[in-house]
Amino acid sequence: MGTKDEVLGLLEKHRGKNLSGEDIACRLGISRTSVWKAVKSLERDGHDIRAATNRGYQLSDGNNVLSIQGLLPYLSNENFAEKIRIYKSLESTNKTAKEMAVNGCEHGTVIIADEQTAGRGRYGRSFYSPAGSGLYMSFVLRSQFLDLPSPTMITAAAAVAVCRVIETAAGKKPAIKWVNDILLNDKKICGILTEAVTDFESGGIDWIVAGLGINVDTKDFPGDLSQSAASIFPDKTDGAVRNRLAAEIVNAFLSSGEWLNDGETYREYKDRLTLLGRAITVMRANETFEAIALDVDETCRLIVKRQDGTIAALSSGEVSVKSP
Ligand code: BTN
Repeated sequence: MGTKDEVLGLLEKHRGKNLSGEDIACRLGISRTSVWKAVKSLERDGHDIRAATNRGYQLSDGNNVLSIQGLLPYLSNENFAEKIRIYKSLESTNKTAKEMAVNGCEHGTVIIADEQTAGRGRYGRSFYSPAGSGLYMSFVLRSQFLDLPSPTMITAAAAVAVCRVIETAAGKKPAIKWVNDILLNDKKICGILTEAVTDFESGGIDWIVAGLGINVDTKDFPGDLSQSAASIFPDKTDGAVRNRLAAEIVNAFLSSGEWLNDGETYREYKDRLTLLGRAITVMRANETFEAIALDVDETCRLIVKRQDGTIAALSSGEVSVKSP
């Protein structure tokens, strides 16, 4: 770790409190000039550091920069930090994650960006990813370490894990719109895009990239999104909130030996589903049809009854609730 990271680590640990230049210098075994240089460089990176004569330096409570040092106080295992890469701006964290997978990165590598310039959603849609207010993160998972029976189940398990983190942080119970949209008060606060990287030779799935886009305190959504999207914290903002949420999601994804498959996943997924018993429209690659959402099976496929009475089990597709 470089001097700048060490200084930021100390300031993050004492967020909102003053640390004298001398104290920092002494704790890190460096000169006060080096502390000053590190602080200047952190300010250039966007960190909100208050400096006052005789009182030293303070990382303001409102400082909202994503960093490894910002995540560290909330990580359940400090070794997770080695797997996390944080960028100011990327086209898409899923794109970078897939490139890293192909280049042989470690299982559990996490790519986080403050903003995405070409964030991707399902079915080729874009995902609105402004700087400073959302969390855009992708996990690179080696399929051999996943003890989950189907790709749908991976997305479902990720959705349940994210719901738990959001519920603890916000004190509100998020719902899931099959297969992977997370809603609060019927508005989308998080989308998940799970993609596979296949091995060219064997045709088998080598890697799974699970990408999460979370509207943490995004305020102004453009166009149609203003009707359908919302944020976890529409009013309240606390500078550490994105670092804390990111760390808690990393904890949930990387702590589990049997990856997110704790036996509760299916029960909880079903409990959070908004659709069951309702009339829906199903859109798939080659067809659109009306149906009733009956249930989800143990691999989180949606069981629907078509208008002709036949039953189908869907593992992918887009559904919307028919207005009454
Ligand atoms: C959807 O709602 O259709 C899925 C949205 C997934 C967005 C996330 S943001 C992080 C990751 N990188 C991307 O380009 N997309 C996913």
